Amino acid sequence: MTPRISGKHQNHYALIIYGFVLLLTGTTTTLPAAEAGRVFDVTNLDYVKVNAEAGKNVTIPCPGVTEHSLVDTLVWKTATTTIAQFANRIPLLHSPRIQLLSDNFGLEFSPALASDTSEYICLVNDRHIPEAIVDLLVQDVPDPPERPLLISFTSRSVNLSWAHSQHPRNAPVTHFIIETREGEDGIWDQVARIYTRTNATSYQVTGLTPFTVYSFRLLAVNKLGISPPSKESYYIVTLREAPTGKPIPTTAHNTSSTSVYISWKPPAPDTILGEFLGYRITYRPRDRNPNDTKEIYIRDNTVESHEIQNLQTYTQYKVTVQVFNPEGLGPETTILVMTDEGGKCNCNVLIVLRCTSMCLNIHYG
Ligand SMILES: *[C@@H]1O[C@H](CO)[C@@H](O)[C@H](O)[C@H]1NC(C)=O
Ligand SMILES: *[C@@H]1O[C@H](CO)[C@@H](O)[C@H](O)[C@H]1NC(C)=O
Ligand SMILES: *[C@@H]1O[C@H](CO)[C@@H](O)[C@H](O)[C@H]1NC(C)=O
Ligand SMILES: *[C@@H]1O[C@H](CO)[C@@H](O)[C@H](O)[C@H]1NC(C)=O
Ligand SMILES: *[C@@H]1O[C@H](CO)[C@@H](O)[C@H](O)[C@H]1NC(C)=O
Repeated sequence: MTPRISGKHQNHYALIIYGFVLLLTGTTTTLPAAEAGRVFDVTNLDYVKVNAEAGKNVTIPCPGVTEHSLVDTLVWKTATTTIAQFANRIPLLHSPRIQLLSDNFGLEFSPALASDTSEYICLVNDRHIPEAIVDLLVQDVPDPPERPLLISFTSRSVNLSWAHSQHPRNAPVTHFIIETREGEDGIWDQVARIYTRTNATSYQVTGLTPFTVYSFRLLAVNKLGISPPSKESYYIVTLREAPTGKPIPTTAHNTSSTSVYISWKPPAPDTILGEFLGYRITYRPRDRNPNDTKEIYIRDNTVESHEIQNLQTYTQYKVTVQVFNPEGLGPETTILVMTDEGGKCNCNVLIVLRCTSMCLNIHYG
């Protein structure tokens, strides 16, 4: 950065030092100006402020020079660099982006860049003191912020923190845009952007889905526009929650006087909210005490039907089915189903001879 010592505000130290070599001994007049540090009193120097936007053309005037001035030699410089020289009617330029205007010896930047921001002096005809200092400020959209860090998370929120970019490009950052990506190879514009209200560098992103992969990236905004996106954060998987979806029953009927068959479809995948481990089935005679409930765990999430055996004859059963994940059980689907009357036979025992054919019919069709 250029040291900026304002002649107007710091009268005790009203010196501006131009050049690479710092010489404060007062003997500088004996040295050629181009090689040595140049020290001059700026107490009474004026500042000409020029504000510009990056990408546009901007011209800064050489203070005191008009079309009518007689110019033999001329040099434009900053504290560290000679930008343009004019001698023997030939201009010499530091960069092809910069031109010396032929009429008034203004400097044209086409286009201007934020890095052109500096204090410029224009020295005419070997004078040692400029008429004024031209203070050029070129503003641009900010550089991207640093990669966001994941500070903490729950099943539905993530706290992010990040650092401002090293280069705000001469215009303060007003706020940030947070982009959210769902899934490992999702796209960035599927989730609505979040606009933070201030330029604070942390934010709690809410409204996320449990047990889902996310990553985040940031854009900084100033009055000139929006930066390119930052590097994306590392992936995160939000915490599990108990499932919210219920299985959808498809059939329920007796298969004998002591068994019933039920089948179902799984709930939507986005309602499982954790690893889908399988199903829990409970059953009890409908009118009986809940303490008589029996349960079956099916540890296979591809199963979509089950036959419950060893039931009581001609009894209405209350059957429930629910999914489970490591976090717990989902809500129950309730099915009422009745075992068949089965005549007077008890097919498990086959005591009564006349039941044999009926029981065989039940078991073997
Ligand atoms: C900026 O300057 C360049 C080079 O002098 C010129 O080609 C271009 O047309 C200028 N742009 C504008 C917007 O004046
Ligand atoms: C996340 O940030 C919010 C607000 O910024 C804060 O109230 C909360 O405690 C933070 N959560 C954690 C787990 O740090
Ligand atoms: C953040 O905003 C404040 C004003 O609200 C401003 O003074 C500051 O420079 C901004 N920070 C950055 C890094 O742009
Ligand atoms: C059910 O079982 C619990 C303990 O397991 C017992 O306290 C309760 O009295 C029982 N209820 C009935 C109606 O038997
Ligand atoms: C048992 O199933 C058979 C065949 O589907 C049906 O005809 C019968 O009515 C059922 N019994 C009861 C008690 O629902």
